[in-house]
Amino acid sequence: MKKKIVIPQLKAMKAQGRKFSMVTAYDYLLASLVDQSDVEMILVGDSLGMVMLGYDGTVPVTMEDMIHHCRPVAKGAPNTFIVGDMPFGSYNISRKDAIHNANRLMKEGYVDAVKLEGGKTVAPIVAAVVEAGIPVVAHIGLTPQTASQLGGFKVQGKTDEAAQQLVEDALALEAAGAFAIVIECVPVAAGRAITAAVSVPTIGIGAGWDCDGQVLVFHDMVGMFDRFVPKFVKQYANIGPTIKEALNTYAREVADGTFPGPEHSFGVNK
Ligand code: KIV
Repeated sequence: MKKKIVIPQLKAMKAQGRKFSMVTAYDYLLASLVDQSDVEMILVGDSLGMVMLGYDGTVPVTMEDMIHHCRPVAKGAPNTFIVGDMPFGSYNISRKDAIHNANRLMKEGYVDAVKLEGGKTVAPIVAAVVEAGIPVVAHIGLTPQTASQLGGFKVQGKTDEAAQQLVEDALALEAAGAFAIVIECVPVAAGRAITAAVSVPTIGIGAGWDCDGQVLVFHDMVGMFDRFVPKFVKQYANIGPTIKEALNTYAREVADGTFPGPEHSFGVNK
């Protein structure tokens, strides 16, 4: 059986050039499947706002939503390292508030670490949460919670200056104590430069092959969420159409009376 990875192991993997993988999960059943796989880490991402709750973005997601989804994931995946996203509004008011909400994710959501979005400007918040004893994953590049400030869901760090800014963000977050940094939607060269600049592992999503680990949204990678499929998503399966086909076959068989047949029905004792 897989053994839960610990934070020093992630750093050692970076030093040894060994890559690791992370995937999102938002419920018990999927978490238990991930737990039986070789994927080392689960992210209970606030992408659940779109994937589970049908919102257009992540901003409306609340602490209660996050805790509600983190709990069953922790129950389903006891052998997988679980990171819970701090939702928008849970760490942008004060350091005290950020620590309070990070404590809630740990104590009520049973996660192993929290993730929050932002560069240099959130480094003091990261430092406060880390000093409170809570492991933090940072998230730079395209930060969906503040996508409107970035001009939409666009590739970040496309110029030398912008890439250098991201390197500085990463260094500030490392100095603040983040033990890993998610880099979203940047050119391969920017992902490479950030990964080379920091000693903590980077986890790329649309940030090229040089990052130390990779993360994907599960429902994207298995073809279940087709409202928008970003270029960086590789579809390892296409189960959306398979599910629709199963549902249509079921509906047709109920309508034409072929389901349930004798093999799915009970007789009576004479
Ligand atoms: O919420 C999420 O799923 C994320 C990933 C896109 C990294 O933050």
